Amino acid sequence: MKSTEILPIHSAQTDGEQALLARAADCIRAGGLVVFPTETVYGLGGNALDGEAAKKIYEAKGRPSDNPLIIHIADIDWAESYCHTNALFYTLACAFWPGPLTMIMKKRDCIPASVTGGLDTVAIRLPSDPVANALIRMAGVPIAAPSANLSGHPSPTTKEHVIRDLDGRVDMILAGNPSEIGLESTVIAVEEERVILLRPGAVTYEDLVSVLGEGCVSIDRIVTDKVTGEFIPRSPGMKYRHYAPNAEVLLLHGDEERVLSYMQTHASDPHTGFLVYEEDVSTLPPQRTLSMGRKDDPVMQAHRLFACLRAFDEMPEIKTIYAPTPKKEGLGLAVYNRLAKAAGFSIQSC
Ligand code: TXA
Ligand code: MG
Repeated sequence: MKSTEILPIHSAQTDGEQALLARAADCIRAGGLVVFPTETVYGLGGNALDGEAAKKIYEAKGRPSDNPLIIHIADIDWAESYCHTNALFYTLACAFWPGPLTMIMKKRDCIPASVTGGLDTVAIRLPSDPVANALIRMAGVPIAAPSANLSGHPSPTTKEHVIRDLDGRVDMILAGNPSEIGLESTVIAVEEERVILLRPGAVTYEDLVSVLGEGCVSIDRIVTDKVTGEFIPRSPGMKYRHYAPNAEVLLLHGDEERVLSYMQTHASDPHTGFLVYEEDVSTLPPQRTLSMGRKDDPVMQAHRLFACLRAFDEMPEIKTIYAPTPKKEGLGLAVYNRLAKAAGFSIQSC
């Protein structure tokens, strides 16, 4: 067990907070681990130029070391030093950075193999959260950071989630506000003339198409389908069953009324939980039902999803969680992808 310093921080504006950030930046430069808030989810950060720091990140998370890390930078100008950029990269960076978009590019030699899981590419992102940005800028090095959860748990969207998973395993936790978006960044592989969507997030497929045109954006099958057997995913992280609560998640697909009445037929079983839209909450047992937000509000659904999955972990009697299958449009595709992964892609038609 390490002794972890938990440092409250909110804006990076005051002198006191700047001083805390300077200490956290020193810790990163010295090879330590610092958890910090971002606009997507909290990240577990270490110096991306230090192969030993990367190894510590894998150890703290209990994560397989073939699953590569995203490096976080403080300014677009930093990118050229760490990856081979191209015109498409800058088009997308100008459109969506700072923000929840991660681009996979050929890496430069200064990025250690332990950061990229041995791949010759690196995932790079410029977060918009002011605390994240100030920390990276002060550290003066890119920060490698996976989501700050123990491997297999849902990504943390509040300081309480982080403390629960990582207190005693990292040097510092910057305990800030709840994550604004609540789902991890969109991950794309950037080629010369097109991009491939590997993980949907708040920069949506439609957003990418609006900048690049339809012919230039494709969606990898790992976004919507279960990865099986010999299939080698472009993004190693996608093969793991992430985002999993303790209970089994079962997605129900079909007409809205039939889905709801199927849930109601299971409502008397004390081992079932329900993760449904706000409009349907009142029709199911209140102690075992959580709301993702209104049907037409994927922003709220994204914001709440991981906190709901973690809340079910606090209810040990729940063995099965029923949820409706979200529409795969806009931000809904990201909500669908995370729920489907939590369900191991087990989707039942009603
Ligand atoms: O929003 C986010 O992206 C958060 C915050 C902290 O920035 N980070 C995050 O990191 O979600 P992580 O490690 O939990 O997810 C990174 C994903 C993994 O699925 C990984 O396999 C993929 O990105 N990835 C990273 N580098 C890659 C590469 N070189 N090639 C393909 N996939 C890569
Ligand atoms: Mg993660």
